Amino acid sequence: MPTVLLVHHTVSPALDELVAAVVAGIEHPELEGSVRAALSPALSTTAADVLAADAYALITPVNIGYMSGALKHVFDTIYYPCLSATIRRPYALVAHGGSDLAGGIRSVETIASALQWTRIYPPLEVVGAPGRDDLTRAEELGSTLAAAVMDR
Ligand SMILES: Cc1cc2nc3c(=O)[nH]c(=O)nc-3n(C[C@H](O)[C@H](O)[C@H](O)COP(=O)(O)O)c2cc1C
Repeated sequence: MPTVLLVHHTVSPALDELVAAVVAGIEHPELEGSVRAALSPALSTTAADVLAADAYALITPVNIGYMSGALKHVFDTIYYPCLSATIRRPYALVAHGGSDLAGGIRSVETIASALQWTRIYPPLEVVGAPGRDDLTRAEELGSTLAAAVMDR
């Protein structure tokens, strides 16, 4: 079954809500159980996890104007082992923070672009407690990823 890997660094209830919304989107009933969501805490994500998946949802807090160190560790670990095998795979980013997410988003997009992954949803920027609209968009982001891989 096609799999979307959710690589997340969940440090608070706000991020946990966003992760749950993305999972709900990937496993939306309209997709009839055709795509699996695989949750992968960033500090334990391996190159094998990334190679085994078909698409990626990246969910991170922004810390000091950058992605979390945990997600950076994933990229440092997987870059060369996954570089040729994951070209063009779809990905989408959820960035959470308290004020300014620009540096965090730029940092992820730079590495995803070097990996030649395909961004299939605009970066979802959430500041503070997620509102209804944020959660709806997180769910839509998950469904978009699932739809991209469901026929594989
Ligand atoms: C050391 C540190 C640096 C942070 N830097 C940023 C930042 O550059 N931009 C931002 O929007 N939020 C920043 N934050 C806020 C975190 O992104 C936020 O705490 C995290 O997303 C969890 O949010 P919550 O506790 O409100 O749920 C920072 C937090 C810490 C602890």
